[in-house]
Amino acid sequence: MKVGIIGVGNIGLELRGKLGLLDWDVEFVLKSDGVYKNEQKIDVLENYLSYCESVDVVFLAIPTSDDGKVASDYIYNIVNKNIPVVTCEKGALSNYYSRLEPYLDKIGYSASVGGGTRLLNYAETMMSEDVTSMHLIVNGTLNYIFEQMSKDESIGEAVKNAQRLGYVEPGATDILDIINGEACSDVPMKISILHNVCGLGKPIKAKDIKVKKISKIELEQLIDEAHLRRYVVSFRKNFLEEDGVIGGFVYKAGEWNICAGFKDISKNKIYMQLKSSEVNNAILITKGVYNADGIYKLKGPGAGAGPTTSSMIKDAMTFFK
Ligand SMILES: NC(=O)c1ccc[n+]([C@@H]2O[C@H](COP(=O)([O-])OP(=O)(O)OC[C@H]3O[C@@H](n4cnc5c(N)ncnc54)[C@H](OP(=O)(O)O)[C@@H]3O)[C@@H](O)[C@H]2O)c1
Repeated sequence: MKVGIIGVGNIGLELRGKLGLLDWDVEFVLKSDGVYKNEQKIDVLENYLSYCESVDVVFLAIPTSDDGKVASDYIYNIVNKNIPVVTCEKGALSNYYSRLEPYLDKIGYSASVGGGTRLLNYAETMMSEDVTSMHLIVNGTLNYIFEQMSKDESIGEAVKNAQRLGYVEPGATDILDIINGEACSDVPMKISILHNVCGLGKPIKAKDIKVKKISKIELEQLIDEAHLRRYVVSFRKNFLEEDGVIGGFVYKAGEWNICAGFKDISKNKIYMQLKSSEVNNAILITKGVYNADGIYKLKGPGAGAGPTTSSMIKDAMTFFK
């Protein structure tokens, strides 16, 4: 199998290592300053498409430093050449979904939400008319930080460890900025992708979701209540105003009301079932009136280069079955 990789940071490097073990040939990598082969720059970035034509699949692992336009251009241009793209980037499918929707059969996107959990595939499979609510922990980094704090680690240590383990989105360094970045940028992107690929209604855009940032005082409260609170996103058909949520957003998407934020999970039996260790993500789906048709759950590793790249390779393999 011949492949190309766009972006060789945490994810791209791990991917390159794993592909080597599978005997897949990395024909080129793109960095922000050009096209590379065997660590040598071989061309300017603008000529990347001609290299894509000679591979079976392209992996995309660049940060979302804009609203996803750069990533969506890469995906659009490559799939238009009939070459599949596997991405873990979130901006493209959360803000440019309508542009990419006609090519979804050539896009592997499982790792863009839930890292290695395969949470999107699960939600897509479980989706039906009788789903009454969905509750999720989709930010593994925040889950990790709050889990560590509940084990008496300071927030400084927890964030430092999350960075060391490669869980934190590239960019921010200040603790409040990191927490707000994960909550205000990462979560709306993942939720929009989930909404869109599950066909929950007219596509939504992450950039239309206005998220309340947490203040320094609210951060102090979250530190004190770290053992009680997790960042939970809920989709419900009947609107339910939730009390005591810190930060987050309420967004109406067709028949679905999405309510997110740092919630006290100890007060809600459904939320307690989402509680997950380490960097895990979780999804819980209820079906039927009063959950009469069941409660369905999936948990798994939500961030980190290992699970994310495994999920990307699984996606790539589905193109060549
Ligand atoms: N880390 C995780 O656990 C995780 C999990 C799921 C999804 N993701 C997603 O994976 C993506 C990559 O994350 P990362 O942690 O690997 O980021 P990273 O370490 O910052 O690496 C990103 C790489 O992309 C390159 N790049 C940036 N803009 C580019 C462009 N326009 N064209 C070509 N290359 C470009 C950068 O190259 P230069 O150094 O040359 O600028 C850098 O090598 C992000 O979208 C992130 O949200 C990460």
